[in-house]
Parts: sequence; C-alpha cells; structure tokens
Amino acid sequence: MTSNAPQKPVVLITGANWHGIGGGLARELHRQGYRVFATGRDLSRLSEYAELGIETLKLDVTDVASIHSCKFEVEKLTGGKLDILINNAGRTCAEPALDQQQESLREVFEVNTIGTMNVTQTFGPLVVNAKGKIVFVTSASSLTSAPFSGVYHGSKAAVNQYSESLRLEMAPLGVGVLRIFVGGVRTELFRPSRMPKFLEGSVYKPCEPSYLTILQQTGPKMPSPDEFSKSVVPSIINAKTSGDIWGGYLASVTWFMLKVLPSWLMDYALSSQFGLAKI
Ligand SMILES: NC(=O)c1ccc[n+]([C@@H]2O[C@H](COP(=O)([O-])OP(=O)(O)OC[C@H]3O[C@@H](n4cnc5c(N)ncnc54)[C@H](OP(=O)(O)O)[C@@H]3O)[C@@H](O)[C@H]2O)c1
Repeated sequence: MTSNAPQKPVVLITGANWHGIGGGLARELHRQGYRVFATGRDLSRLSEYAELGIETLKLDVTDVASIHSCKFEVEKLTGGKLDILINNAGRTCAEPALDQQQESLREVFEVNTIGTMNVTQTFGPLVVNAKGKIVFVTSASSLTSAPFSGVYHGSKAAVNQYSESLRLEMAPLGVGVLRIFVGGVRTELFRPSRMPKFLEGSVYKPCEPSYLTILQQTGPKMPSPDEFSKSVVPSIINAKTSGDIWGGYLASVTWFMLKVLPSWLMDYALSSQFGLAKI
C-alpha cells in the first residue's frame, strides 16, 4: 500500500470493485485530487488500483470486526479525518415476494441496510472531525412500485429514511448527508450470468421473459461507471449542504414521473412493462 500527500482531502468508498460504480467513483475522485481508499471484502479483487496509486483496504460491511479494523487503519493513515464516506456496497435481489429465498433476503438486508448503517456509525466520527460528507448510493427505483424487487427496494428504502434522520443529526456537526438516486449504470449487475431466474413452478414464471427483456434492452443504453461518475462527482464535491443527486439511465425520468404521474398510472405502466397481465 502506498501513501499519498497528507493534505489531500480523503474519501473512502465501500464495495469499490474496479468494474462497478465504486470503481468509477474511486477513479474520478482520484482524478479530482482526492486521496482515495477503495475498499472491498476481497483485497485480491482490488489489485487494479495499484497502477493509479489508489490505496486499497479490506472492508466487509457485514463484519463488525472488519469495519472497526478498517476504521483503525484509516485513523492511523489520515490522523483521524475522513472528508467523504461513500456507502456504495450493495447486493441486488430480483425475486417475487412469494418466492423469496431466506438466504438472499438476509444477505441483501445485511449488506445494503445493516452494513451501511454500521459503517456510517463507525466512520461517522472521522467525518465529523473533517466536517465532511456522508454519501449513500441508493436506487431511483427504490422510490417506485416496480415489481420483483421488493426486498432490494425495501433494503434501500430503509437507508433512504435513515439518511433523513441522519441529515438533521449531522447538520449541527457541520456534516452533509447526500443521497445519490441511481437510475441504471452498466455494471456487472447486467452481465448475462447475473440475470434473474424465477423459480420453476412459480406463478410469476410467465413474467420472466418481460423482465429479462427490460434488463437486456436497457443495459446497453446505460452509462458506464466512469461516465456516471463524471456526471455525479462534481455534485458530491460542490455540495455545500445535504441533498439529493440523481444520475444514471432514466434517473431524471423517474424523478419527473414521481413528481407528476398519479400513482395508479405509474402502477399501470410498471405492471404492463413487467408482464403482470400474463398471470
Ligand atoms: N448498477 C445500477 O444500475 C444500480 C442502480 C441503482 C443502484 N445501484 C447501487 O449501486 C451500488 C453499486 O452497485 P454496482 O452496480 O456497482 O454493482 P456491483 O459491481 O455488484 O457492486 C457492488 C459492490 O458491493 C460489494 N459488496 C457486496 N457485499 C459486500 C460486503 N459484504 N462488504 C463489502 N462490499 C460488498 C461488491 O463486492 P464483491 O465484488 O466482493 O461482491 C461490489 O464491489 C449498489 O449499492 C447498488 O445497489 C446500482
């Protein structure tokens, strides 16, 4: 691990695999002059960062001991200040509620919700020392009624609400709380091997082709993690107070629809798109 000039502002990103949103944010913030700690649960998957001089640290957000040991390391390396904490680590889950697997239900909440809250609590004092910013990478669709994503959206919606309280609690301490409502970004989530597969015999099996078509058709239209990061990083850096940032494929369309469409029309559009009429 290398050490950069100590006076640079410091950012730590969770779940920063090279090909994901975390990777894009790490590269863009590094380009903007930040000292970046790209973290992940498997250090061997972060080896590409060495060529850019980006520092890497092990951090499994579901393991309290790992969170504390990473915080200890960051404290040692920075003198106890963290300008930006980016809660990016996440798991997706595309399962109809009635077919929900116990294992993925728990895993999604452990990573997206409990892990995010534990990381925020542990690293929060370092962000307070810097009067910095805490960023949550959440999902634009977690605000919609899109089918087959109840667990994933529930895990993100919990964090959306958590961040609202946090915003008020952090204000007197000079810390900003930002949420990035992400539309679509072309990451490993859209690789063919990661496409959802509904259970054989599920009453929702007839909807699977419509769902796959949505993912396959939209995936190529999405920005890459680097394009996405270039569009949102200026808003992160320039934010003077807490607030929301919208970025990625269809994020602004989702924002607009949520503002102007009645919920029954949104429900109708999503039900048709996801093939619920075939049931
Ligand atoms: N891509 C999109 O269209 C989109 C849309 C809305 C929101 N988001 C959100 O954006 C964030 C990044 O997603 P992505 O698209 O970049 O997908 P990704 O490439 O799969 O990134 C998710 C990252 O989270 C990490 N992670 C999973 N469990 C972890 C744990 N226990 N501890 C630490 N890290 C862990 C993964 O590490 P491993 O590689 O070790 O699994 C991976 O680095 C997620 O929060 C996701 O929900 C993405």
